[in-house]
Amino acid sequence: MERIRGATFRPTATWRTLAAPFHWMPRWLEVYGDPFLIRSFNGDVVVGVRPEYIKTIFKGLPANYSPFAAGAIQPLTGAASLLATKGARHTRDRKLLMPPFHGDRMRAYSEAMRASAQGVFDALCDSPRSSFARAAERISLAVILRAVFGVTGPEDERSFGQAILNFSNAFHPTFSFMEFLQRPWFPPWRKFSAMKQRYSDLMDHRIEHARQTPGTEDILRMLVEATDEDGVGMTSEEIKSQLITVLFAGYETTAITMSWMTDEIWRRPEVLENLRSEVDALSDGAPASAYTKLPYLDAVIKETLRLHPVVTEVLRKLNEPLQLGEHLLPEGKAVSASILLAHLDPERFPEPLEFRPERFLERKYGPFAYLPFGGGHRRCIGAAFSTFEMQISMGLLVRDYDVTLHDRAPARPTRRNLAMAPASPIPVTLRRR
Ligand code: HEM
Repeated sequence: MERIRGATFRPTATWRTLAAPFHWMPRWLEVYGDPFLIRSFNGDVVVGVRPEYIKTIFKGLPANYSPFAAGAIQPLTGAASLLATKGARHTRDRKLLMPPFHGDRMRAYSEAMRASAQGVFDALCDSPRSSFARAAERISLAVILRAVFGVTGPEDERSFGQAILNFSNAFHPTFSFMEFLQRPWFPPWRKFSAMKQRYSDLMDHRIEHARQTPGTEDILRMLVEATDEDGVGMTSEEIKSQLITVLFAGYETTAITMSWMTDEIWRRPEVLENLRSEVDALSDGAPASAYTKLPYLDAVIKETLRLHPVVTEVLRKLNEPLQLGEHLLPEGKAVSASILLAHLDPERFPEPLEFRPERFLERKYGPFAYLPFGGGHRRCIGAAFSTFEMQISMGLLVRDYDVTLHDRAPARPTRRNLAMAPASPIPVTLRRR
């Protein structure tokens, strides 16, 4: 068996992977080959890129894996979070959490999604210059508040939304990736803990309210009522933990993708034209869900997620040895299916740095070559929900508004919490068409 080569000096490897993965990961792949090794503060990670390796990682038995850096995640989300649990407990909780994010359930949120997006876009029209990134966050937040927490009144939306924003903005990637910084002497951690407490108090109140007020249609209500095959439901502490997880995993990721998408579309007149010919064909009274059936719009979303994956790596820690091609990886190491590198593979995506939505109309990509939502037993549970939200919000934007981008150059990626986001706030002027 060949030795796996890689970036081995812990501080720089950790820092480079965190700060500039789009620069360093392709470089390491070129220098060290596939798979390669990263020695990080949270342990050794073997990064696999080709579809055979990614298939091996995703097809591994759930019992053979633990979440990577679970100790770093738990103080943020709570021990019951889907991101922190493993084995039978993780399987059970996924079953309880999945139904609200699928099928007809999701369709019930479509008009609320359109109303949220329209409200935010209309407010933007009053301003000669505003940040599209902040607008996308407001849409995503309003959608989560409505769909997940059942929040609809403006007063409630403001106070609850502000608590969520404070909590989310107080998060800092340093203490997530470097567990030893989760201490009261570290000011960002202290601030984050205070914001988390406020958010937690608000959620306690909401959960109590949901337990006592049957009949609402939101996801929180479904979680309060969900039970497994043995009739066992989730405790308030567990629900709170999952709600923090959903917020962390769902709100910024969707907003960031809409920002990338806007920056790409309005730099490419031919893409905008193709999109417009699709959305303009919808009748005025078409339901919001009509936007979810448009192939070119869907291809633009897919291409955005390919070129700008919000989460760049899917990590798992090995409880058992894993045979990755000709390499036998010992228990205790971690593996990563590299979303970023798989999406830049020139064999599957010719001219990989080009933004070309047509590639998704010309052929289908398997789940081991195209994986913006991860895969296997931990695949993103919000994939359908966020796609739905993006189709409706971005379809509406293209159909009813003109956007002028103020940045001369396309946005560049920067680390934002656990995600990679545009470094620019995407300054725009919006006008009704
Ligand atoms: C563009 C939007 C999104 C992207 C790109 C994205 C991406 C991802 C990725 C890559 C993972 C890791 C999967 C793995 O380990 O195999 C993940 C996990 C997860 N996502 Fe998303 N996500 C998005 C939106 C959402 C939304 C809207 C929600 C919920 C409302 C959500 C909830 C979750 C949860 C709960 C997990 C953990 C699943 C588990 O560990 O079992 N995500 N997401």
